[in-house]
Amino acid sequence: MEFSKVTVVYFSPTGNSKKYAYEIAKRFHGEFDELNLTEYDSRRKKHYFKSDELVIFSVPVYYGRLPIIENGIFENISGENTKSIFTVTYGNREFEDSLLELQNICEKRGFHGIGAGAFIGQHTFSEKIAQSRPDEEDYKIIDEFVDNIKLTKDVSNELKVSGNFPYREINKMPFVPTGGKSCNECGICESVCPVKAIDKHALKNTNKDLCIGCFACVKQCPENARGISAKEFEAMVNKLEENLTKVDKKPKLFYL
Ligand SMILES: Cc1cc2nc3c(=O)[nH]c(=O)nc-3n(C[C@H](O)[C@H](O)[C@H](O)COP(=O)(O)O)c2cc1C
Repeated sequence: MEFSKVTVVYFSPTGNSKKYAYEIAKRFHGEFDELNLTEYDSRRKKHYFKSDELVIFSVPVYYGRLPIIENGIFENISGENTKSIFTVTYGNREFEDSLLELQNICEKRGFHGIGAGAFIGQHTFSEKIAQSRPDEEDYKIIDEFVDNIKLTKDVSNELKVSGNFPYREINKMPFVPTGGKSCNECGICESVCPVKAIDKHALKNTNKDLCIGCFACVKQCPENARGISAKEFEAMVNKLEENLTKVDKKPKLFYL
């Protein structure tokens, strides 16, 4: 299978989805382009992909769905029956309807799925969950994934991934990260927030309506000053750790 160009298109506040997209892309082509839709301004610009290109979409799973953000992640992206690979990354719990949602959104915008996968990355809320993913086993599975897609003979078929429609209801957690005592107001949090939920004049606060709880600000704060201090959040994380550190899930792959 030959493509005039390969592009990774990702929304990845803490880097796992980006990492998987890169790993897949480099197995197709030594060189590839990149469109980082984590950046607010990139999502505001129109991007068009031709029919002879390959696009690798990669996003994280939030509550078994795609992250829900104002205007959507892919609002300004369009293709022309452009061949695509859909991937989601999740924190070793489940990916439920997210991959189907990604496929449906992208296919409506002119992309044609030729393969899809749900991969496992460290959970945003705990370094103990899926700590070292992707690991050697994941890399081998990505090798096979790309090899199998390359062997596809008839790309006109319809890709079938797991998931249900109507999609599951989202029960968003009621906490958002804020700046603590050691915050020196450097402003990095404001610059890395994908949804502009942090105002540069009030850096310790977070707009609850806009925040998606992605933890980009928490992970990139050089002072380790941002976080969620609510006891209920701590209890939720303890429960996640209890449930999700026993078994390492394997990637689920889908082909034409
Ligand atoms: C708000 C939120 C909700 C999440 N929901 C799920 C989930 O339903 N299932 C799961 O396994 N992981 C869940 N995770 C973990 C992320 O899917 C996982 O860490 C992912 O790899 C993060 O991707 P990124 O590094 O590209 O941002 C959630 C993370 C966040 C921040």
